[in-house]
Amino acid sequence: MPNTTANNTPEPTARSFPGVQRLNHPLIQHKLTLLREKNRSSSSFRRLLQEISLLMAYEVTREMPTQLVDIETPLEGMKSPVIDGKKTVFVVIMRAGAGLLEGMLDVVPSARVGHVGLYRNPETLEAVEYYFKMPAGMPERDAIVLDPMLATGHSAVAAVTRLKATKPRSIRFVCLLAAPEGLRTFAKAHPDVQVYTAAIDRELNDHGYILPGLGDAGDRIYGTK
Ligand code: URA
Repeated sequence: MPNTTANNTPEPTARSFPGVQRLNHPLIQHKLTLLREKNRSSSSFRRLLQEISLLMAYEVTREMPTQLVDIETPLEGMKSPVIDGKKTVFVVIMRAGAGLLEGMLDVVPSARVGHVGLYRNPETLEAVEYYFKMPAGMPERDAIVLDPMLATGHSAVAAVTRLKATKPRSIRFVCLLAAPEGLRTFAKAHPDVQVYTAAIDRELNDHGYILPGLGDAGDRIYGTK
C-alpha cells in the first residue's frame, strides 16, 4: 500500500519534519504531479506553477494579521476585518523563485516584492550572492521567501541570513519541493523560520538535484538548458 497523507494523497516519502508544513491539498498535489512530468512545455509548466502558488498562498497567509475597519453595507454600518497587504513582502530568490510570485500576487496584490540573486557554485554547491534589493521599512513587514526547490538548502539559508539583517517582523519560507538534506540544513540554520512545501522528496543526487524532483526549475520555467 502506498504512503498516504491525512487526506489520503499518496506521496513518495512518509518522513515527517517538525517545523515543516506540508500542503497536501488534493489540487496542489494533482497539479504538482502534472508539473513533474518531463515532457511538459514551459508554458504549461509556468501556468501550473502559478496555479499551485495561488493555492499555496491561502495556507501561507493564514496567520496574516487583520484589523477592523468601519464600512457601510446597504443596510447598516459595521466593523469588518481587512488585511494590510502592503505589510507583506514576497522575497523572490532569483531566478526560479519568480515562478511562484504571480500566484502569490494574485492573492495579495498590494504586497511589496524584494529580490535576492544567488547562484550555486557548481563545484562546492555553495550559494554566492550577486543581487539584493528589498523595499523600505522592512521591520514593519512580514516576509515570505519564495524558491520552488529547497535542495541542498544553501541558497535558502544564505537568502534568509541576508534577509534577517533587514529585521523583518516575521519570515516564512515557501517551496514546492524539498529534499530531506535541505530541510535539515535549513532547520539547523533557521529553526525560527516556518517552511511550507507541497512535497518532501526522497534525496539529492550527486549534483544537488532533488530525486525524483522535477529537474531544473529555472530551466523548465524559462525554457533554457
Ligand atoms: N534546483 C532545481 O532547480 N532543481 C533541483 O532539483 C535542485 C535545485
